[in-house]
Amino acid sequence: MNGRIIVTGATGSMGSAAVEALTGEGIPVLMACRNLGKAEAIRADILRRVPGADIDIRPLDLASLASVRAFAEGVEPGTVAALFNNAGVISKGFRLTEDGLENTFAVNYFGPWLLTLLLLPKLPKDAHIVNMVSLTCRFVSLSETALKPAEKEFSQLGTYARAKRALLSFSLELARRYPDLHVNLADPGIVASDMIDLGHWYDPLADALFKPLCKSPQAGVSPALRALSEETHKRYYVGNASKEIPSRYIDPTLDERIWEETRNLISAIAGFTLS
Ligand SMILES: NC(=O)c1ccc[n+]([C@@H]2O[C@H](COP(=O)([O-])OP(=O)(O)OC[C@H]3O[C@@H](n4cnc5c(N)ncnc54)[C@H](OP(=O)(O)O)[C@@H]3O)[C@@H](O)[C@H]2O)c1
Repeated sequence: MNGRIIVTGATGSMGSAAVEALTGEGIPVLMACRNLGKAEAIRADILRRVPGADIDIRPLDLASLASVRAFAEGVEPGTVAALFNNAGVISKGFRLTEDGLENTFAVNYFGPWLLTLLLLPKLPKDAHIVNMVSLTCRFVSLSETALKPAEKEFSQLGTYARAKRALLSFSLELARRYPDLHVNLADPGIVASDMIDLGHWYDPLADALFKPLCKSPQAGVSPALRALSEETHKRYYVGNASKEIPSRYIDPTLDERIWEETRNLISAIAGFTLS
């Protein structure tokens, strides 16, 4: 692989595990993070275990289309080999971003959507793009208003699942429009991370009982790492294997509609036209 792998959410449980594993293989990484102090501390920690690890750090707030654009503009063409859209969040309550988008959708879907599209001209034609989805996708469908849920439609897990379902749809349409790319999906399973603290009073108890049963971040991110290294296309990586995209997710009409809606929405908000 020639160039860096961009890892978004590289300060998180699985993101930092990915940075350590990739640099341990001698692959240079660009940590794309909203908290630079946290990123510096993680880089220092990784350097203790992986001497010589080649880690660049740049600011990226996926909840801000302007930040996504600034990040993408700062990437020099030819320096990046792959993109791992790993960052994610489960917002505890309904909150709009500076762009007027619901926060969970902004971070898990709109940000990665725009980031990927803006980076494409700077990536190799056959670049690897790995998008982190979730088993929650299987429990939801995307309605007409799904991309901009109203407050009364918001629920922590439901909105998160729909945002991940939209990311899945985007991945399939991306693969259709750019068939030379290696676009794959990674599903980590249930992983002991800060993300699965949903902010309820009983979480300390749930954590104590439940977290030991979850996968470690290293195990959770391993499907994504395999997807980044294999010459596959449109596969669903989960556990120790990859499989065809499950048939319940195959809906090219939906994928195209969601793509067009997203493009129009982002173009209107950000004031520029995307192809
Ligand atoms: N944990 C699970 O069981 C599970 C299951 C299925 C899928 N996933 C997915 O796996 C991915 C990694 O999750 P994780 O468990 O490692 O969670 P995590 O430890 O909470 O890490 C999430 C990462 O996303 C970053 N992030 C959040 N909001 C952001 C924003 N506005 N801009 C840029 N970065 C932002 C966080 O940055 P900060 O460090 O600054 O907060 C952090 O680096 C996510 O996409 C998640 O949805 C997780």
